Amino acid sequence: MVDWTDAERSAILGLWGKLSADEIGPQAFARCLIVFPWTQRYFSSFGNLSTPAAIMGNPNVAKHGRTVMHGLDKAIQNLDDIKNTYAALSVKHSEKLHVDPDNFRVLAECITVCVAAKLGPAVFNADTQEAFQKFLSVVVSALGRQYH
Ligand code: HEM
Repeated sequence: MVDWTDAERSAILGLWGKLSADEIGPQAFARCLIVFPWTQRYFSSFGNLSTPAAIMGNPNVAKHGRTVMHGLDKAIQNLDDIKNTYAALSVKHSEKLHVDPDNFRVLAECITVCVAAKLGPAVFNADTQEAFQKFLSVVVSALGRQYH
């Protein structure tokens, strides 16, 4: 169980309300595949990932980026029970997809960068970043639960 302050709760929901999952998801996932190229190994069925331009223009990448970001909607809607909300997703990533859990952290980093770039420093300031980082670290920990 995570303790959120009222300020953190409203910062997280406020940031989320200013974002489009369909915009940030594809950007963040493409960024992850480019900056941390070992993450490409799980997506061999996605077609051409050979250059940054190919990754950014790949419709399978965009689609999966939207899927991941809409997956985060579930955590936003269940801030007080993220662990249980992601129980099945954690099992799937670990036992079926065999994703190395350190990659959750790496993708979270890319999401942070894309959100910061989108919203700018007046909105994504130190206070809202603190709340958002905490949110993402709870998500990362919940997704990694099955690995412990
Ligand atoms: C599938 C969410 C991170 C690899 C999925 C699905 C969701 C999801 C909702 C679809 C599950 C289904 O169809 O039942 C998330 C979230 C993440 C995350 C919220 C972290 C914020 C990662 C990372 C990797 C990864 C870092 C690997 C580097 C995969 C793969 C699939 C998948 C390979 C199946 C893709 C396919 O073949 O369609 N993920 N994921 N995920 N995820 Fe993740």
